[in-house]
Amino acid sequence: MGRLDGTSAVVTGGASGLGRAIVERFVAEGARVVVLDRTKVRLEELSRELGDAVRTIAGDVRSFEDNSGACAIAEREFGGLDAFIGNAGIWDFGRSLIDTPAHVLADAFDELFAVNVKGYLLGAKAAAESLRKSNGTLILTLSNAAFFPAGGGPLYTASKHAALGLVRQLAYELAPEVRVNAVAPGGLATDLRGPGALGLADTSITEELPIDTILREHSALRTAPEPADCTGPYVLLASEEARTFTGTVIDISTFGTPPRRQ
Ligand SMILES: NC(=O)c1ccc[n+]([C@@H]2O[C@H](COP(=O)([O-])OP(=O)(O)OC[C@H]3O[C@@H](n4cnc5c(N)ncnc54)[C@H](O)[C@@H]3O)[C@@H](O)[C@H]2O)c1
Repeated sequence: MGRLDGTSAVVTGGASGLGRAIVERFVAEGARVVVLDRTKVRLEELSRELGDAVRTIAGDVRSFEDNSGACAIAEREFGGLDAFIGNAGIWDFGRSLIDTPAHVLADAFDELFAVNVKGYLLGAKAAAESLRKSNGTLILTLSNAAFFPAGGGPLYTASKHAALGLVRQLAYELAPEVRVNAVAPGGLATDLRGPGALGLADTSITEELPIDTILREHSALRTAPEPADCTGPYVLLASEEARTFTGTVIDISTFGTPPRRQ
């Protein structure tokens, strides 16, 4: 028996990386999942692999209509919506205030905040009525950058801090019917891209950084987690076991550099 048997979810950015691992895990736990992502070929691949347990919608999280289209599919095809997982995001590759020209900074802010913050806000708006009906749950993907500097530059760090603000405000506004929580992973070797305004739309984090090596050397647990290693907290938050959790973040970023024992 799966921990999410008979439930349905929407996952944004579910065609790659962490989102894809969440989709696979939710399906393995008995959920049916609608995936909203902008990358069509990966959505087709996902449909072929996971079959009838998933529906896909090619779209952009910056659009309210695309978010509400995903929720409508869950209502129509799966009989309701129990969990909305806002996860699609982009990174700023640590570009700094000083080294980024002002006009580039302004355009990159608009682009990155539109995905990382407006995307979550519009997803929440699109899902709210369905989640109220089902006493469902909203779960957002944050990052170590929601709490600390240096997980990106000022744009990414500010966007994840803003998303933490959404968790707190929406947990307050949508209570008591809807629980709102988040998961904060640390670095992951995925295809995470950047804003076109910074010339980073076609660059992935894995090309730019030896992320697994950095994690093995500097994270508290000296491990480089795979996206699949990060899915447990999402299952917990979407399950009955978390029925008393709201406004909280499960921080699995394992950041820190404890001294090595001699
Ligand atoms: N990779 C890391 O090191 C890391 C660390 C902490 C947090 N995160 C967070 O994890 C989340 C997932 O990122 P990932 O690392 O799996 O990256 P990824 O690029 O592998 O997956 C992100 C997915 O989101 C989709 N997407 C991006 N912009 C979109 C848009 N406007 N509309 C619809 N879909 C869009 C992409 O097509 C992609 O499939 C993000 O919120 C990211 O900030 C990642």
